Amino acid sequence: MALYTSDSRDRVRDAVDFVELVSARTELRRAGPARYEGLCPFHDERTPSFGIDPAQKVYHCFGCQASGDVFTFVQETEGVDFKGALELLAERYGVELQREQEDPREAERRQRRARLLELLDRTASYYERYLWESAEAKRAREYLQERGLGEEVLRAFRVGYAPSAWDRVLLASRQGRFSNRELYDAGLAQRSRQNGQLYDRFRSRIMFPLTDTRGRVLGFGARATSEQQQPKYLNTSDNDVYHKGQHLYGANLARAQAARAGEVILCEGYTDTIALHQAGMDNAVGLMGTALTGEQLDELARMAQTVLLALDADSAGQEAMLRAAGLAARRKLELRVVPLPAGLDPAELIERDGPEAMRAAVAESVAFVRFRVERVLAGGDHSTPEGRDRMIEELRPVFATLPPSAMRMELTRMVSGRLALPESLAETLLAPGRGPADRSTAAANGSGGRGAGPSGREDTERAFLALCIASPQQGSDALATLDVDEHFASELLRRAARRLRDGSLNEPMAGDPERLGDLDEDPELKSLLAELVVEAGREQAHPAMLEVQRLQLQLARLDREVQRARGAGVGDVTGLAQQRAEVKREFDVAYSQVLDDTGERES
Ligand code: UTP
Ligand code: MN
Repeated sequence: MALYTSDSRDRVRDAVDFVELVSARTELRRAGPARYEGLCPFHDERTPSFGIDPAQKVYHCFGCQASGDVFTFVQETEGVDFKGALELLAERYGVELQREQEDPREAERRQRRARLLELLDRTASYYERYLWESAEAKRAREYLQERGLGEEVLRAFRVGYAPSAWDRVLLASRQGRFSNRELYDAGLAQRSRQNGQLYDRFRSRIMFPLTDTRGRVLGFGARATSEQQQPKYLNTSDNDVYHKGQHLYGANLARAQAARAGEVILCEGYTDTIALHQAGMDNAVGLMGTALTGEQLDELARMAQTVLLALDADSAGQEAMLRAAGLAARRKLELRVVPLPAGLDPAELIERDGPEAMRAAVAESVAFVRFRVERVLAGGDHSTPEGRDRMIEELRPVFATLPPSAMRMELTRMVSGRLALPESLAETLLAPGRGPADRSTAAANGSGGRGAGPSGREDTERAFLALCIASPQQGSDALATLDVDEHFASELLRRAARRLRDGSLNEPMAGDPERLGDLDEDPELKSLLAELVVEAGREQAHPAMLEVQRLQLQLARLDREVQRARGAGVGDVTGLAQQRAEVKREFDVAYSQVLDDTGERES
């Protein structure tokens, strides 16, 4: 259940001055009846490909494909979640938010969580003050300084120090009226095995607060200050607020810059992250010693399109990379590998050779496929034909992910050179369909379908929906004549078409959540609709063009039916062919109408 009523959400949306909100991030100029344009705040560009519709309050960038509404805009630019964006805008535009009726147990859980967060935040401040002010932390201060980490960046990350005494945090928290239970639940205290007494969990350690993307402290990573102290890092274990594997270290501080740069650097440790920020690469986040999880990868994907892996060259780091690749394949993420000197992590490289060395390594990042190919070639046995065949075997799945491209050609050439095979042979050996592992790819490539591929088809469908939005009257008639399941390729486009058909064509971003479903709970659909609205605002509504697109969808559908009938061995497709011919005639008429119209406008 949503936290706030959908009514409060609508009131916030209504209250927002979208042009003003966006103008704080990029300069906008009017560019059409329902459109403002500017340089995209989400990626670097010189000519504007970013547009907003000030009435519908949606944006879309034709360059980086960012799109959304007032809430996503704040989520992306401020690095907060949906709830955070809602609260922020409510405050800024003076709207009072109404909570949904909460079940009492839920309310209790929320209050408990809020208490734990407050306790953790106070404790972080306590450790922070202790690091900078106590005599006891002098050695820790010197250590951090020797490692080249300056006060400014350490304060930004709220690094602190936990005193050596057994009960400092305990006492301070009791003074703040927190119970033993709460201290224990927040992971700050532990129970003595001998007498059951509580005592501070973290002592004589440098404290790295772990936060969520909004910067709320959820727990700590605590570094030992001497060799005898074990383990080297003591971390908060899973509790009500902290869940291992869900967060990235420094995400709150890296978010804005990552969005701007379109790139996020992923490193392993706390000190790596901080050192990178200090060196000016403040789009860096840390993995915190876990194997990369799907949730973390989702978080990375929300931050930027490209992930630069700055992980150790040791085997754990390598494994994390392979995992990342497996997970990234299913998302729209580009993975690149930052070559680090063997045995050095980013913090050590910066310490030894300075920020420029790290920046140079980042600049030399290589596409993950190339990295994998090089690794197979470096690790194999080149002296025997069996060894070379094994490498080919290992390389084939890597090449299966590579479409025909300059990159594919170059890598093929590299393999042919290194394995001393003629290029044409290497090409054949690496081609899909030779090993059992590639059957699916072979089938996908081999069917060689007709006309436009799936993406071409989707383009037509998108253009059609945008035109429906541009002329809602005709659009709703046109949509009514179509069969959504038959005419639209992807499930996402079907959802969009259904929603627009069933009542949100006039206001694509609104509509009754009870009847149409809650748009804020379907971010994919929300972003597609935003894109369509901005697309629609780009041009004057053009009813004749709408008809053309509608007929084009009909034609594509008939083509598919003809194909299906042929595939099923149904000999006679005459009926379908006749239908098609008829639609084609209508299409030609409609299209010449469009040509006439546009001709008139130009003369
Ligand atoms: P490293 O051992 O590489 O440490 O662990 P580091 O980050 O380079 O630390 P410094 O530079 O010596 O201070 C990498 C990461 O693995 C996690 C921590 O998140 C650490 O930053 N880790 C490591 C643990 O959680 N527990 C450990 O005992 C060790
Ligand atoms: Mn290190």
